[in-house]
Amino acid sequence: MKLGVLLSGRGSNFLAIDAAIREGRLTGVEIAVVIANIAEAPGLEAAKKLGLPTALHVSKGRKREEHDAACIETLRAYGVELVCLAGYMRLLSPEFISAFQNRILNIHPSLLPAFPGLDAQYQAFDFGVKVAGCTVHFVDEHLDHGVILLQRTVPVHDEDTAETLAARILNEEHKAYPEAIGRVASGKYEIRGRQYLLKS
Ligand code: GAR
Repeated sequence: MKLGVLLSGRGSNFLAIDAAIREGRLTGVEIAVVIANIAEAPGLEAAKKLGLPTALHVSKGRKREEHDAACIETLRAYGVELVCLAGYMRLLSPEFISAFQNRILNIHPSLLPAFPGLDAQYQAFDFGVKVAGCTVHFVDEHLDHGVILLQRTVPVHDEDTAETLAARILNEEHKAYPEAIGRVASGKYEIRGRQYLLKS
């Protein structure tokens, strides 16, 4: 299954997916293209260094529909079957979502539906939660809302800062995303309403 990874920044989730593929922990998939919407995104540079095909579609100052149409064109040109948002800090247009219906995944650093939006780890820390975590979900037209594929939890310790908690969550993200992609690639699941169910 050909993956298209979209990112805006650091790219540690992209690198975790790439490492899982290279190390044989995630099989049956390949990264066909990495697309960034910000020229300076370190993840874009990392993808180039790894020799992966990359594309830059700068979103700033461009209409969402136009920008997304360019992304869709690139994804189609590379034969992408599953789009993985990996720290892609932009809402997708309805056209983008319907072009890849139930074929777009996102990772979010909270236990959704708690703390959608930006800086979720910091929102959770400030709220005083005792358990935090991350969620991999299908993307629908609402923010951080689509069907949940999997979640991983972490404890919050008394001595934590928002930064130590964010780092603990990120560590789980790096395990969760490859696992979720593997489940989608296996095809052994069905979506019933909001339920994502594994089939044997
Ligand atoms: C990750 O923590 C990811 O969950 C979050 O951005 C970070 C990107 O890090 N995404 C969102 O908040 C999306 N709503 P990375 O660039 O190192 O993968």
